[in-house]
Amino acid sequence: MRRVALIAAGLTRFGIRQATYRELIQEAGKAAFDSNKNVSPKDIEGFVLSSVFPERSAFQSHVACLAAESLGVRPRKLFGRVENMCGSGIVAIRTAYTAIVTGLADLVMVVGAEKMNVPVPTEAALNMITGLDRDWEGSYGLAAPPMFALSAQAHAAKYGTNEEQLSMVSVKNHNHSKNNPYAHFQKGSTMEQVMCSRMISTPLRLFHCSTMSDGAAAAIFASEERAKGLTDKPIFITGTAQAAHGYAVANFHRDLSHWPALKEAANDAYAMAGIGPDDIDFAELHDCFSIAEIIAYEELGFCEKGEGGKFIEQGLSDYGGKVVVNPRGGLIGCGHPLGATGVAHATEIFLQMRGEAGPRQVPGAKIALSHTNSGPGEHHILIFEKGF
Ligand SMILES: CC(C)(COP(=O)(O)OP(=O)(O)OC[C@H]1O[C@@H](n2cnc3c(N)ncnc32)[C@H](O)[C@@H]1OP(=O)(O)O)[C@@H](O)C(=O)NCCC(=O)NCCS
Repeated sequence: MRRVALIAAGLTRFGIRQATYRELIQEAGKAAFDSNKNVSPKDIEGFVLSSVFPERSAFQSHVACLAAESLGVRPRKLFGRVENMCGSGIVAIRTAYTAIVTGLADLVMVVGAEKMNVPVPTEAALNMITGLDRDWEGSYGLAAPPMFALSAQAHAAKYGTNEEQLSMVSVKNHNHSKNNPYAHFQKGSTMEQVMCSRMISTPLRLFHCSTMSDGAAAAIFASEERAKGLTDKPIFITGTAQAAHGYAVANFHRDLSHWPALKEAANDAYAMAGIGPDDIDFAELHDCFSIAEIIAYEELGFCEKGEGGKFIEQGLSDYGGKVVVNPRGGLIGCGHPLGATGVAHATEIFLQMRGEAGPRQVPGAKIALSHTNSGPGEHHILIFEKGF
């Protein structure tokens, strides 16, 4: 099987941005080309755009062609848009990966972009509900915060996971994003601030939630052969997997403290890469809500099932612990422009592997895992290894 390398990456600052949808794409695309001067737009053979609801939030559809044109890219071997809710970015990267592995293309650009704060954030909340089962759940108020709150309640009831432990995830990720000039939030936070923030959906408070951000990220992938002429620092995708157990919360699983689809995907990705959870140096995990990071520790095998609360409490997911989780600040610290998030994981992995992450550098980073979910029943994973 042909190997696939990440050879360039860049992103915009995440936040409430005045920039238009097109401008965000241009900013991220330029940053990716600036990161590797051996690649120019005319070289790109394939182009995949990850974007969830530009029709609603940027009043624009047919966006893959718009994005490619905005960057001066004229793809002729692979082309299109991917929408898979919050997991879209990794699904787009897997699309590029598959095309390169099969020989359909040698050089593919992936861009993730979302404009969430147009016209007003409350509109973004309504938009978000379009990603849930409209007939049976979304229209009755089962938006993302209550959906993940159900997991937090089940985890608390079964394993005793408490509000302090949920809050430690938020404090860690806010303190990481303090060192990230591209993050939505850069002031850090304290336990008091998190635990006194207003209740959104019991037990999840404001600071336990990711926020609505505008932003874009871009990454360029090449076959191993093509990468040789373009970089001496390739980062290879060595494992990848997905699993989906269902759409409506009421249908896919009875015990919301367990996310078996994530465990299944993790095991497949580890097997493909020929590694185990203990080999991961750092992980970009989908902390859309702090409980999601705690459950991910468990299902990814960083700790035993039910021990996720203790894992954060003991500092095992921070610098100096077992595996550094979310060094860029996660979704809680960076914000979550849906289509951009999975691609932003790749931009962080690009910087970390090259030793260019500044004050948030993970010492000796060689193997990284990227995980996004599209709800508790649907998970996407990539494993990256430093190839130099
Ligand atoms: C949590 C949520 C309901 C809050 O929305 P809201 O009540 O409209 O609150 P706002 O976004 O206006 O934020 C209020 C303030 O808190 C701040 N804030 C919001 N989230 C924050 C966070 N995680 N950390 C720190 N500050 C935060 C905002 O910057 C804003 O500050 P300001 O008043 O100084 O401008 C909303 O952000 C949300 O739904 N998040 C989840 C998004 C989601 O579902 N994503 C998909 C996940 S699968």
